[in-house]
Amino acid sequence: MTFSVSARPDSDSGSSIRQHLGERMNAFRIDRWQTEWKGRHIMRGLAPGRSSVRLISNDYLAIANHPEIVQAQIDALKATGDSVLMSGVFLHGDTPQSSLESRFAKWTGMHEAILSQSGYAANVGLLQSISGPGVPVYIDMHAHASLWEGIQSAGAEAHAWRHNDVAHLRRQLSAHGAGVVCVDSVYSTNGSVCRLREIIELARSMGCMVIVDESHSLGTHGPHGAGLVAQLGLTSQVDFITASLAKAFAGRAGLVLCPEGFSDYFWFTARPAIFSSCLLPHELAALSKTLDIIIRDDWRRAAVQKNADMVRQGLADLGYNVEASQSQIIALEAGLEYDTLRLREALEGQDIFGSVFCAPATPKKRSLVRMSINASLTVEDIEKLLHGCEVIRDQVGMWAWPSTRRRENGAKALVGLRSVSGL
Ligand SMILES: Cc1ncc(COP(=O)(O)O)c(C=O)c1O
Repeated sequence: MTFSVSARPDSDSGSSIRQHLGERMNAFRIDRWQTEWKGRHIMRGLAPGRSSVRLISNDYLAIANHPEIVQAQIDALKATGDSVLMSGVFLHGDTPQSSLESRFAKWTGMHEAILSQSGYAANVGLLQSISGPGVPVYIDMHAHASLWEGIQSAGAEAHAWRHNDVAHLRRQLSAHGAGVVCVDSVYSTNGSVCRLREIIELARSMGCMVIVDESHSLGTHGPHGAGLVAQLGLTSQVDFITASLAKAFAGRAGLVLCPEGFSDYFWFTARPAIFSSCLLPHELAALSKTLDIIIRDDWRRAAVQKNADMVRQGLADLGYNVEASQSQIIALEAGLEYDTLRLREALEGQDIFGSVFCAPATPKKRSLVRMSINASLTVEDIEKLLHGCEVIRDQVGMWAWPSTRRRENGAKALVGLRSVSGL
């Protein structure tokens, strides 16, 4: 199926730009949708029902719609008061936003906090504020797209290093000099955990600043949920922590945690902070109540971890390669996009719903279905999930997936190494 975007008859240049867009849209429809996905859509399948095992949402602590959070929003909406519908740059003095920012800073042990509209805006704004032309920014290849976008929009130099490969980072740092090092604490596609201790130590020894994106660990890890950096006792060693509050906080906001005196400067240099409106009172009320619950409910963190351990172990026993995951994010990597489409459909057939990740979120041949494990999953849900994954294993060709073979080859190499070294 092809289509074209019709040109306006009165403009030649309009005609060619519209034609160009039409060609690009057709390329997507033909190359990916028609050819690669064989006319089906990789993402668009069935909708989950009441009994489905839902692993789509990043509401890890199962906190969305908590009655206390709902009530806090209702109260804020009903209260008459100063509601600022404008950029946060105009805020000053004691405001609900500034008091919530102080709470976030205190909780995480960082000096200051800045609330932004999203995790994306937080990362883009931060990189615009601290980097720019001529500044080398070192970034793990699996780091979130918003960090890459920040580097690009700041006009800084991006130097990627292989995922979690500290030796490769060292070579990059030696080649290009001191700059900014960016990592995710927990990587969002496969749930791998950053080698934070080694990377931070190396970055500091080379005179670099460090940004850790804690989107997938704030709330789920650390003392009372204060994050992985806090859990590892590294708070004083990092310059900036960012986070999306659309994961464990189940809201729509982002966070930058920063050194003393930085926030005043940020509000005048980060374009998303200056040119986009700030959070609304009921959003702040929801986040403040969510923070209370996250600090209070250690049992939610324990439940996520227990559930994730059960799922990871169960999938590994079935032969799935889930070795990369060390967290509540667990991915089934089918590889080719059509194989991932088949996997999604087969899972849906078992009433199991995860999220498809494909290019540009993953490399082209490493697409996957991501499962976000949450605190509310029951033992029955996990049994249903594992049973479903067992039933579909052959049907989806799991034994031939590149990820399965990688694990087998890795295991063989280890046996070979052991026999050579006599271990
Ligand atoms: C690691 C990481 N950083 C940042 C973001 C962006 O967050 P938000 O959805 O709040 O814009 C995400 C969301 O997918 C993420 O996974």
